[in-house]
Amino acid sequence: MSAPAAVRTRIGKYEIGKTLGEGTFAKVKYGKHVETGVDVAIKIIDKDKILKHKMVEQIKREISTMKLVKHPNIVQILEVLASKTKIYLVLEYVSGGELFSKILNQGRLREDQSRKYFQQLIDAVDYCHSRRVYHRDLKPENLLLDAEGNLKISDFGLSALPQQFRADGLLHTTCGTPNYVAPEVIDDKGYDGAKADLWSCGIILYVLMAGYLPFDEASIMTLYKKIHKADFTCPPWFSPAARRFILQILDPNPKTRITAAQIYKIDWFKKGYTPAKFKQKDDISLEDIESVFSESMDKHEHMELQKNEKKPTIMNAFQLITLSNGLNLSGLFDTPEDPKKGDTRFTSIKPANEIIASIKEVAKPLGFDVQTCDFKMKMKGDKEGRKGHLSVATQVFEVAPSLFMVELRKAHGDTLEYHNFYNELSKGLKDIVWR
Ligand code: ADE
Repeated sequence: MSAPAAVRTRIGKYEIGKTLGEGTFAKVKYGKHVETGVDVAIKIIDKDKILKHKMVEQIKREISTMKLVKHPNIVQILEVLASKTKIYLVLEYVSGGELFSKILNQGRLREDQSRKYFQQLIDAVDYCHSRRVYHRDLKPENLLLDAEGNLKISDFGLSALPQQFRADGLLHTTCGTPNYVAPEVIDDKGYDGAKADLWSCGIILYVLMAGYLPFDEASIMTLYKKIHKADFTCPPWFSPAARRFILQILDPNPKTRITAAQIYKIDWFKKGYTPAKFKQKDDISLEDIESVFSESMDKHEHMELQKNEKKPTIMNAFQLITLSNGLNLSGLFDTPEDPKKGDTRFTSIKPANEIIASIKEVAKPLGFDVQTCDFKMKMKGDKEGRKGHLSVATQVFEVAPSLFMVELRKAHGDTLEYHNFYNELSKGLKDIVWR
């Protein structure tokens, strides 16, 4: 029999320690893996409370969103455990405390230091936006610092995935701390989640550099009025460039407010900026593909000439099972009509050479340069997108005699642009896709 919650010191393989934070629906506790010694933060959610408040869908969304976003400046979810009465979200432990405790203890930050945190914030927020995930509640309590002093955004509990859009294509639920909330969110006439998050980032930048809020009123009505008019002034120590930049972010009109793509081009922002380095689930490293294509042109052409004699990689049972969600082989047959699954692969009963030729034929008019090597392809977009040129790696596998699986992976560029490309490509490949 398990010990009562009050005296319980273990959850799964984690030894439980002090409470790190407490909210209405969850408590966050420190934990240590008893075998590996890895530190974690465990978010403990009471099943009864979420059932009572009809929040089951929101919790499910929180978990799937956290699994979807993998970024060095976002707190990573490690695993999910459950007991009869509780759900435990095991999170990466971030040891440096809240960024804003630093401001409370040491006062405002220097411009360079504020810029560094702001760059990391924009990097992570823009990454989420490219996956259509909007935080909607960016505020100081959600910004933690790791042991190296890097920013980590926590708590995607209120973030919204596309299904929360209404027919007008805009987000609707009003939430968040008023001081950090964009005017259009207060109005609740529908808002663009990306623009609203950028407004909150602007408030955060102001607070880092000023040491106080741009809009802070005892009366909520006065506060709302000031937010709507963006009625704020910058303290004299802000540099002219920082002032101009903040004015572009704290623009009450979301249509003219600066976008993330424009932020990356602002000199003030660019100073000392290095994009976050990480490996994502759906991004295979460019080096992996480059190595396939790095053979000398001679060899490459030679392979092209001999391609009829070559055969696609045959998948072994282990690879098939890995791909197919346990032993349920239906996972293999993700069709292009089901892009939300994120796996962009399809099956075909056409000969591998025909598959490759069709992909080339469809990709070229879409503005993609196609290189082929055996049954691997690299397609590079000629247009510069939000995150540079889109690059897509493709491989044809033989699943069974006369049954091929074509896998496409984004190697470089923006995820949303990749999904758009995939949709266009799959329309053109209707005749070779097997259903
Ligand atoms: N408080 C809330 N989440 C946390 C985390 N992931 N690490 C440390 N403290 C936290």
